Amino acid sequence: MTSSLKSAPEPRALARTSTWPASRASESAPDSHSSLVTRHSSLPLSAGIYGIGSCVPDRVLTNADLEKVVETSDEWILTRTGISERRIVAAGEATSDLATAAARRALEHAGLSPADLDLIIVATITPDMPFPGVSNLVQDRLGASRAAAFDLGAACAGFIYGLATAKQFIANGFYRHVLVIGADTLSSVVNWTDRGTCVLFGDGAGAAVLGPVPDGSGLLAFDLGSDGSGAELLCVEAGGSRLPASAETVANGQHTIRMNGAEVFKFAVRVMEESTLRALSLAGMTTADIDCFIAHQANIRILDAASKRLGLPADRVFNNVHRYGNTSAASVPIAMVEALEEDRFKSGDTLALVGFGAGLSWASTIMTWTR
Ligand code: ACO
Repeated sequence: MTSSLKSAPEPRALARTSTWPASRASESAPDSHSSLVTRHSSLPLSAGIYGIGSCVPDRVLTNADLEKVVETSDEWILTRTGISERRIVAAGEATSDLATAAARRALEHAGLSPADLDLIIVATITPDMPFPGVSNLVQDRLGASRAAAFDLGAACAGFIYGLATAKQFIANGFYRHVLVIGADTLSSVVNWTDRGTCVLFGDGAGAAVLGPVPDGSGLLAFDLGSDGSGAELLCVEAGGSRLPASAETVANGQHTIRMNGAEVFKFAVRVMEESTLRALSLAGMTTADIDCFIAHQANIRILDAASKRLGLPADRVFNNVHRYGNTSAASVPIAMVEALEEDRFKSGDTLALVGFGAGLSWASTIMTWTR
């Protein structure tokens, strides 16, 4: 399994806590709230990313390989999607394997150990099995004995939903160090006879370790959303409580991805622009403030159209869809790791992250890179 940030962990010089702005700390509060105000007075107000890491399987599946599987061509895939190759797990390799490796690399990058973790959130729609969660398996393999753990859905928006969730736990003082992983093995639910979908997806995992940072830095604003009326545009029909697995569902191919590509395409371009602008507005910023734009890597035409609508020049947009295809919840953190390796952002820069996918769901965040 490959891909990681190789830089040695840097010493962290963060205040253990930051305080309410003086004006708010001194505000007189109604009696019933005074204890709350006092309790919060020593709590951090923001959360940021201390370290990131990723992992993709070793096996490369090229467009030329796919020409032997379905009626397609390298030229069609490249011009319609921008994808040249993707990574696919080996037999017996599962989401938790990729997730654990990505987590180890993120911890190393953060200079923390598994014992430092208070919570592990794994965003995935392809867990190793219906239960227990991938997060539980990762917690055990890391030896993160103090950490609570749960899985989160939200498909390709899952990693950013995870960041938003982690931020709440840190900002309210409940937890200090939270590991957020986006990990998916979509190859396990791809219909390898459907050329309209099987060329799009790959496997991988990306992880981030979060902790408190001074107010005004780190994760500044989020926009999260859902439109469940589009649920049928992109789904795996069977294997849940409505259509439990049976010989019939297997024979009908109902355990694999079904997608209305054209509709998802239109939704994606629209929501990437709208969600990014909402998050920017909440952060009090404009697109001119974005130093590096990292979006869910689904299709280069979607990424180009959304970047154009946002008026972002190519040098401020990071793409690696040609190497990995659509890795679902893993795509944003994998892209973050590679963008950092390529010096596409540095300490103090403003990043915009945006994801979209099945649900339909979407999420974006504006953050300052604090490492
Ligand atoms: N190779 C060759 N021909 C193909 C292939 C292929 N792999 N796939 C489809 N075609 C054919 C179609 O059959 C069609 O032929 P026809 O005109 O004879 O019927 C033709 O190519 C055009 O098909 P379209 O579907 O119109 O192609 P389009 O330009 O829309 O591209 C695509 C299809 C790439 C799927 C695009 O719609 C897309 O990227 N949609 C968004 C998908 C997406 O991002 N999904 C993931 C969301 S994230 C998540 O939650 C997992």
